[in-house]
Amino acid sequence: MHMEKVGVVDFGGQYTHLIARRVRQLGVYSEVLSAQCGPEDLKGLSGLIFSGGPSSVYDADAPMASAALLDSGLPTLGLCYGHQLISLKKGGEVKRGTVHEFGPADFHPDRSHPLFAGLSEASIVWMSHGDEVKKLPDGFHRIGFTVDCDLAAVANDSKRIYGLQFHPEVTHSEEGMVIFKNFLTLCGCRFTWKVADYVISLEDKIRKQCEGRKVFLLVSGGVDSTVAFALLNRALGPERVLGLHIDNGLMRKNESADVIEFMNREGFHNLKVRDATGDFLKALEGVYAPEQKRKAIGDTFLTVKDDALESLHLDSKEWLLAQGTIYPDTIESGATKNSAVIKTHHNRVGAIMELLELGLVVEPLADLYKDEVRELGLLLGIPEKLIWRHPFPGPGLGVRLLCNKEAGRTVDAGVTARIQAQLAAEGLEGEVLPIESVGVQGDSRTYAHPCLLKGPRDWDRADKISVALTNRVREVNRVVLELGALPGGSYKSVTALCEKARLDFLREADDICTQFLMSENLYSSIWQMPVVLVPMEKAGKPVIVLRPVVSSEAMTARFAVLPFPLLDKLWERLKAAGVGALLYDITHKPPGTIEWE
Ligand code: XMP
Repeated sequence: MHMEKVGVVDFGGQYTHLIARRVRQLGVYSEVLSAQCGPEDLKGLSGLIFSGGPSSVYDADAPMASAALLDSGLPTLGLCYGHQLISLKKGGEVKRGTVHEFGPADFHPDRSHPLFAGLSEASIVWMSHGDEVKKLPDGFHRIGFTVDCDLAAVANDSKRIYGLQFHPEVTHSEEGMVIFKNFLTLCGCRFTWKVADYVISLEDKIRKQCEGRKVFLLVSGGVDSTVAFALLNRALGPERVLGLHIDNGLMRKNESADVIEFMNREGFHNLKVRDATGDFLKALEGVYAPEQKRKAIGDTFLTVKDDALESLHLDSKEWLLAQGTIYPDTIESGATKNSAVIKTHHNRVGAIMELLELGLVVEPLADLYKDEVRELGLLLGIPEKLIWRHPFPGPGLGVRLLCNKEAGRTVDAGVTARIQAQLAAEGLEGEVLPIESVGVQGDSRTYAHPCLLKGPRDWDRADKISVALTNRVREVNRVVLELGALPGGSYKSVTALCEKARLDFLREADDICTQFLMSENLYSSIWQMPVVLVPMEKAGKPVIVLRPVVSSEAMTARFAVLPFPLLDKLWERLKAAGVGALLYDITHKPPGTIEWE
C-alpha cells in the first residue's frame, strides 16, 4: 500500500517534532529528516518542510541543507531559519532585522494565494527571530507581511517553494493549521493517514523484522512498554514474546505489584518479574552527577536483563531485544545531528546503541508520538485508566532524587547579588538555592541553580518574574515558589546519597501528591507532576519540589496552575509526613526541562 509521506527537515529547532505532529494530525504521515540527507531519503515523499533552528544562516557552524534537499524538485515550505536558508541559497539576501520580533504579530496574507486560502485579513502569528530575508531570490514574490517584517511570506509558484518567517506550528499562530492544510493540498496529499490503518503495516513490519526469532521486552508498566508488549503479542503470538518486569527499587509506591496484577488480569501470562533493587542501589553508590546516574541505571537494566536471560536459559541468538521507545525519545539524547544532548534516555545508552547498530533491537513504537501510542493502546483494548497514566521516566525516581557529595555548598556572591537586585526591583524576597538541575536553553543543555521566591501568590505575576529572572541571570535556569516552610533556619545544602531511606521518603511524598491529584480531580488536567527530593534541608527537614506541567509532546511545556487553597492542604499533609518545605516549580520548558535531572 502506498503511504503518502512528508519529510520535516531538522535544523535543530525546538519545534521540529511539533511540525511533524501537526502534519500527522491533518492525516498525512510525516518523518523527521536530517539536513544532510541524500536523494534516497527523499524517495516517495510528497513534500518537504524545513524547520526553524537556533542558528543564524551566517554562523560558522550553521546547519546547511544538502544539495538533495535544495534541488529536490518537491514542494517545499521553509519556516523561520528554513525560510531564510532557502532564500539565501536561491540567491536572495538575509540580514539582521532592524527590530527583533518575539511573540505575536499581525500577519497580512495575500488571501488570493492558495497557501493562504481561508485565512483572516490580519492573522495572529508567532514570531521568534533576529535575522530576516531582505531581498528576494529570482522567481520569488512576496505573499504576506507584518509591520516589522516586510518579507514575512514568500513564494516561487512555478517551483512550489514557499517560505514563512513565523511559526505556524505553535498554537499561538491561530490559523497555523489552515496554512499547513493548504501546503499539504499543494503537495497533492489526500489526508488519509490514521493510526488504525498504520497498525496493520506495523504488525507486518514486526513480523518481518523478527522472522525466525523471538523477542524479549522490558515492561516497566508505563503506557509505552505496555502498548509495545500488547502489540508484539498480537503480531507474533504470546509464545514468541517474553516480558520482563524489573523492579529497580526506583518505582513508585506499590507500582511493581500493580503492574503484575494488571498484566494477569489482562491475560498476559508471558511476563516474568525480577526484584533487582539491590543491583540498582549498588550501581548508584557514590554516583552524584545526573548523566552518570542515568548511565548507571541504564547499564544495570542491561546486566539484570542478561542475568535473567541466562537464568531462563534463553539463547541470546534466538532472542531479539524489544523496547518501547517512542519517536521524540531519541531527539533529546542527541540523536539528530543538529540537536544537543540534553539527557541520555535509558534506552539510548552506549550498550543499546551497539545492539541497535547490529539490528538486534526491535522498537515497534519508534515512529509514533505519545498521543498516537495512546490511540494505538486504546485500539488494542488496553483500559483507559492505564492509557491516561502520566508518563514516568525509565530511570524512575532515580532522576527525582537529587544527590550531593558534600554539605555546605554555597552560591557565587555575584550571582546572588544580581538576583537580589532583580528581586528588590519587584519588591520580592527570595534567594538563589545551593543546588543545581538540568535545563534546556537555546536548544542546549544547562546545569544551573534555581531561584527561590517567597511570593507572590499570583500566578500571572509569578510567571512574568520567572521568565524575567531566567532570561536575565544566566546562572539561574529555574524559579521555584515557596508554598510552605517550617519556621526557623535557612535553606541548607546537605549531603545526600542515592540510598533506600531517601528513596522510601520520596516514594511516600510522591504517593501523597498523586493521591492529592486524584482526590482533587486534578490528575487529568496536567501532563505529569514529578515530585523531587532535593539535597537541602529547612529547619532540619527534607525539602520537596513539585513540578506539575501541561504539555502535549513533552518537547515544550508550561508549568501548570493549580489552586492555591488546594496546594495549602497538600502542604499540611506533607508537613505531617516530615517535609520541611514545599516548593513549586514555576519554570516553563525551555528554560527548565520537565524532570530536574
Ligand atoms: P524532560 O525532563 O527531558 O522530559 O523535559 C521529557 C519527558 O520525558 C520523560 N523522561 C524520560 N522518559 N526515559 C523515559 O522513558 C528517560 O530517561 C526519561 N527522562 C525523561 C519525562 O518524564 C517527560 O515526560
